[in-house]
Amino acid sequence: MKILFAASEAAPYIKTGGLGDVAYALPRALAEAGHEVKIILPLYGVIKQNKARMDALTFVEDVRTPLAWRSQYTGIYREGEGHNPEYIFIDNEYYFTRSDGYAIYGDYDDGEKFAFFSRAILETLQAIGYIPDMIHCNDWQTALVPILLKRFYPQYQGIRTVYTIHNIEYQGKMPRDFAFDVLGLGENDANALTYEGCINLMKGAIVTADAVTTVSETYADEILTEYYAHGLHYILRDCRDKLLGIVNGIDMELFDPAADPALFMNYNSTVAGLKGKARNKLFLQEELGLRPEADVPLVAMVGRLVSHKGLDLVEHVIDDLMATGIQLVILGTGEARFEEMARQAAERYPGRVSANILFDSKLASRIYAGADLFLMPSKSEPCGLAQMVAMRYGALPIVRETGGLKDTVPAYDPTDGSGRGFTFVDYNAHEMLYAVERAVSLYRDDRKAFIALQKRNMKTNFGWTSSVKKYERLYKKLKR
Ligand code: GLC
Repeated sequence: MKILFAASEAAPYIKTGGLGDVAYALPRALAEAGHEVKIILPLYGVIKQNKARMDALTFVEDVRTPLAWRSQYTGIYREGEGHNPEYIFIDNEYYFTRSDGYAIYGDYDDGEKFAFFSRAILETLQAIGYIPDMIHCNDWQTALVPILLKRFYPQYQGIRTVYTIHNIEYQGKMPRDFAFDVLGLGENDANALTYEGCINLMKGAIVTADAVTTVSETYADEILTEYYAHGLHYILRDCRDKLLGIVNGIDMELFDPAADPALFMNYNSTVAGLKGKARNKLFLQEELGLRPEADVPLVAMVGRLVSHKGLDLVEHVIDDLMATGIQLVILGTGEARFEEMARQAAERYPGRVSANILFDSKLASRIYAGADLFLMPSKSEPCGLAQMVAMRYGALPIVRETGGLKDTVPAYDPTDGSGRGFTFVDYNAHEMLYAVERAVSLYRDDRKAFIALQKRNMKTNFGWTSSVKKYERLYKKLKR
């Protein structure tokens, strides 16, 4: 099958979060399963600055993309024949090269920028004479693709569309005018995109796409409820029949402690291998200025420091957490309040807390490798990839039972040793604290069971194989 994967980010070219990982790994896994896959991305300024990357791309041609009264330059670049998946890029300096070259979201005209991208995707198909069976769109930035396809491209009505929600919090809400002034739609089409008084691109895609998926089974259930849906539960309930949860995987080659070049030393799940993990811990403690204590449980948090990741729980009981005797490493950037919380904890617990307010994927790897435990107490988590990486690197997860965390981290059961990590249900700081205490006591009092769990997790396949089968089944069903 021919599949076009449309996203606002995809590794290795551009990545700010989980979407970038998925838009890298899923197309690869689909290509390996025998499909012809293309990934289409904006050619951001940061990509253009990388000469080696640009030299490897071929300029195909330029066309004009209509956006209401505008007609915008649209350069098309591609990796070329023989690449599967193949990356295709849409060039427009006005939209994609901004003064702060690294920030790809957050401009005043994000709506217009990604409306341009979505429409340009459809113009590109025409220009390169490529008709996929399926366009797989992701999040609000490409939510317009199914809508514009239905409205403006009668010749493409045979193409099926899948829309994946990676996070329902960001819906692409615009003033009503946007429908007329940017999209060039009439009153009727504008109404189909309107929700609670404004244009809501995610709502439009949910209603229009042939299928809607999200990134775990539990999240697919959760977003039917008010607590999780950020207002879209009514729409999703109406569209329930075409909604499906398919859990993400991780790229098992990219995330492999036996091969990861960022580590102090590589290791695996054998006895000797776990000694390698212990060495990584000591190196990490040294690198981050923590006390070089092999037998103190090292707890890591890696990810955006925002409230839906559960940082407020940590803030609430930080002293109780430290009283369990752990060391704590935090890596990530986000809301000023939580960055400050992390910095202050590091000041108050010198040698025991390390706050790294930055993002650095190599340091992240070394943290996964050095950590004994990985804390991810999210308020909501569509899927979450970090907990899977942590398990692959032998750090046992402590998670709240929500979304993909629930689906990928079954609770450890001390009576029979089953499960993968330590979990809690209610979004409550003390419940989280008890889960940390249970993890710490297993580490201290039953190291054999702790190690058995580490080894089992490290050997677990968190790859894409079974999820790719589910996507294939979905695509096939739609194509008929
Ligand atoms: C978003 C979600 C995260 C998910 C990722 C990839 O970043 O917040 O839970 O893992 O998308 O689907």
